[in-house]
Amino acid sequence: MKKYIFGKKLGAIVHGGDYNPEQWLEYPDILKKDIEYMKQAGINEATLGVFSWAMYEPREGEFHLDWLKQIMDNLYENGIYTILATPSGARPVWLDQKYPEVMRVDSKGIRNRHGFRHNHCMSSELYREKVSIIDRKLAEAVGDHPGLLMWHISNEFGGECYCDTCKVKFQDYLRARFHNNIDELNHEWWTAFWSKRYIDFSQIEPPYENGETAIMGLNLEWRRFTSRNFTEYMTVEIDTVRKYSKNKTVPVTTNFMKRFWDIDYRVLADKIDVISWDSYPAFHNDKESYSDTMMESAFDHALMRGMKKEQPFMLMESAPGQVNWMEYNKLKRPGVNEQFALQAVACGSDTVQYFQWRKSRGAAEQYHGAVIDHLGTNDTRVFKEVAATGDTLKRLACVEGSVMRSKAAIIFEWDNWWALENAGGLSRYTKKYDKTCQDYWTKLMEYGVEPDVISTGDSLDGYRLIIAPMLYMLKDDIADKLKRFVENGGILLGTYVTGYVNENCLCYQGGFPGDGLKELFGLTVEEIDTLYPSDRNAVQMTGSDVSKDGWEVCDYAELLRVSDAEILGTYKEDFYKGMAALTCKVSGRGKAYYQAARCVMDGMDMFFEKLLGEAEIEFHKHPKGLEYHRRYGENSVYEFYLNTSDEDISLQNLTGIDLIKGTAVRSDTVLPARKSIVIEK
Ligand code: GAL
Repeated sequence: MKKYIFGKKLGAIVHGGDYNPEQWLEYPDILKKDIEYMKQAGINEATLGVFSWAMYEPREGEFHLDWLKQIMDNLYENGIYTILATPSGARPVWLDQKYPEVMRVDSKGIRNRHGFRHNHCMSSELYREKVSIIDRKLAEAVGDHPGLLMWHISNEFGGECYCDTCKVKFQDYLRARFHNNIDELNHEWWTAFWSKRYIDFSQIEPPYENGETAIMGLNLEWRRFTSRNFTEYMTVEIDTVRKYSKNKTVPVTTNFMKRFWDIDYRVLADKIDVISWDSYPAFHNDKESYSDTMMESAFDHALMRGMKKEQPFMLMESAPGQVNWMEYNKLKRPGVNEQFALQAVACGSDTVQYFQWRKSRGAAEQYHGAVIDHLGTNDTRVFKEVAATGDTLKRLACVEGSVMRSKAAIIFEWDNWWALENAGGLSRYTKKYDKTCQDYWTKLMEYGVEPDVISTGDSLDGYRLIIAPMLYMLKDDIADKLKRFVENGGILLGTYVTGYVNENCLCYQGGFPGDGLKELFGLTVEEIDTLYPSDRNAVQMTGSDVSKDGWEVCDYAELLRVSDAEILGTYKEDFYKGMAALTCKVSGRGKAYYQAARCVMDGMDMFFEKLLGEAEIEFHKHPKGLEYHRRYGENSVYEFYLNTSDEDISLQNLTGIDLIKGTAVRSDTVLPARKSIVIEK
């Protein structure tokens, strides 16, 4: 089954990006050149209006939208669609000066002055009202434009506001969350500790930097509240554009930023039609290889895709050249633009979009990469790379709408991340929850198995292998779901730091992991050792089928009391030498494995092969630096091989159509370093 994210088949992969003609309205020759060059670069989409409010409404109540309509007409006549942003990401000066209450209050309680962008209060009714006015004008002016492909709501939601309105809304949120019962909150937040007892919800403040930051439940609820408040705000914008557009079927999105700490994107995701995100990997840095950077990017694609399963997502922004905001803004090396674009499509994106089309002459992003540089011509390396990418994407039009599926999944949960990072104990530096999830995901990728990234709220049906790294917090009846999953034949891998707290950060009594997981794994965690960076231990296997040499242990090592599980590995060193470090319990038709220590994954191949084999998931060990992705169409399968290494890689027995070359492949093929091949089967 194909799923077309724009509500219709376009017959193309979208190739486009942020376009800011409002900066060039007085330069008609430049606007003309833009269209000419866009066509040459195979651009079929332009994202307009992300920061155009002051051009639309230079003075309160005075609207100028004709230029937008003209630009959209012109783009459309030249075969270029528009994704139209609502302009609420940055406010005009008049708005802040007349209504200072719309500006954010920081975590010390100080209100911002006008400046920068993205710093408005999400709770402000007045801001919502002013945004609704301009959104309505846009919807009425161009909401039924034939070139309008999608609404892009605001830009990169993030941050938080600590004003009095937000404080009161937070208190209301808590009232509802704890059934208007302050005793329930006191119990769940364990406020008898340090005399923190509340007698009324109105006493509760957000976690001001110079205020109450020592209640784990409070800190967690603040993050949950902020995510919901952003969602509520965004919904006001969505409702407005829908209500006032003649065409009510134009889909909506908002652009995410990968594993972004501030917001649980899954809450926002429920309210939008399509997931889109902005990706700016630090290519060619001095800490990791290009392959590692690419793999991190692939994991982020999987995280984004997982929020709306079995439908494509969008790569809304990426840099065609270098960015301007990293510590070191290195140039993207030749060929990387195309391979990165292909990776996005390989991972399920139906778009490859850039920030930005044309470099601005001045202001904050004047040195940010763009398709058209200050040189102003098409005769540049970056332009030619983008045009070549456009050409390649045209050959992949048939991939549009195809979807991805997996029998393996990694659980990544925002609440868990927040709670774990906020918890005392362990180490301040080595929890690395998101990186740990990424490492397990990457390990399966080495076998050509691309796991979904799911949440505890998702259904586990259809999966054969679930890895739940560091699932510190148990919520959403996940413990029950995992039990049923195993009993019905699934293979589960749980790790150190699982099931310590409930959804309010209260520790389980009677031993970890709580909520019935002790029984599922057949063990209790008695203690956890936090290792210094140079400390090492090792796991010695008791059977030969998980590794010949044992695994290297770093960072964390739990001490288990095993009641009812097979011990597959034990610690080799320290006072807990000989104690269990890897166990397995058969339950119903499945198996629950428990890995009690963080282990260096390089030595764990045999174990992962065993897991995949038991889960009956087909796998092939791929050479280092080869990424493999698969999308499913109606009657075709699209296979993407990306060689991200510096060496040529031989691919055996490839059959199908090479979509980029347009030729049949029926043999072994050599894939040169940094090149990619897409096969239709
Ligand atoms: C994004 C943002 C764009 C632009 C870009 C620069 O985060 O949405 O407006 O600033 O970064 O890399």
